[in-house]
Amino acid sequence: MTNDDPDHGREHRAQRSFGRVKGRPLSSRQAGLVETLLPHLSVPEQGPIDLEELFAPPPPCEEGVGGGGPMNPAATFALFAERSPSVGLAADASPARGKEAPFTILEIGFGAGEHLVAQAGAHPATRFIGVEPFLNGVAACLAQVEDAGLQNIRLHEGDARDVVARLPDQSTDLVYILFPDPWPKKRHWKRRLIQPDFLDDLTRVLKPGAEVRFATDWKHYAAAALETFVKHPRFVWLAERAADWRKPWPGHFATRYQEKKLGDTAPIYLRFSTN
Ligand SMILES: C[S@@+](CC[C@H](N)C(=O)[O-])C[C@H]1O[C@@H](n2cnc3c(N)ncnc32)[C@H](O)[C@@H]1O
Repeated sequence: MTNDDPDHGREHRAQRSFGRVKGRPLSSRQAGLVETLLPHLSVPEQGPIDLEELFAPPPPCEEGVGGGGPMNPAATFALFAERSPSVGLAADASPARGKEAPFTILEIGFGAGEHLVAQAGAHPATRFIGVEPFLNGVAACLAQVEDAGLQNIRLHEGDARDVVARLPDQSTDLVYILFPDPWPKKRHWKRRLIQPDFLDDLTRVLKPGAEVRFATDWKHYAAAALETFVKHPRFVWLAERAADWRKPWPGHFATRYQEKKLGDTAPIYLRFSTN
């Protein structure tokens, strides 16, 4: 145990895959959104996650809307749900999708939420669950959700492993793990999210033929993650040629974090399918 170990001095010995959970003080808008909007979008803290319940539109809210008073984000959220019946769940019941369950996408470690919000905006009939333990990131994401009026995002402020453990079997179509904490020092590799037991948990919640999209700009993490995935009996690497891992998949949205190019290589994009 060393002083730059994030669990230094803690009783709890579980390997944390993330660093700080709080940064600079939130703006008053962000703090308000954490108080009022986040509870409406949050994955329940405990117990099995029922996706139908989680994505059910909130009941109409009578206060704080249209009265000219201070904005009430929770009421605004309810208003979006009332005014936009064709967006979100209602659109998923369209004849094109028949009675199939809507697509469900999990983004692990969404940072400030730029990718999550961009994807949710581009795919309004898909359900997105974003998980991030860094409060400032969650708050930044909430502001974007409110600005864009998105109804198809649910959030968990915490560890994605806790969410994966509670998702239903074969419930998820796609998991994004984009530029996860690289833990470049050898003594910290055990903190990396991509570990065989975590892949076991993911395979339980992924539908057959579902995908995991992983990107990193750290060479060693890319190689180690690739090895862990290909050794797993349920994952198949989808690359056929070098361009497949050198170029982002269609529709990728680069975040400000990615643009900082903090790693030691150009981004490596790995796509895996469950068999
Ligand atoms: C380097 S940042 C990248 C953020 C974002 N994906 C992007 O590309 O802009 C990695 C993020 O993953 C989060 N993270 C790390 N371990 C996590 C876990 N177990 N569950 C959820 N998020 C996690 C961290 O808090 C951090 O915000």
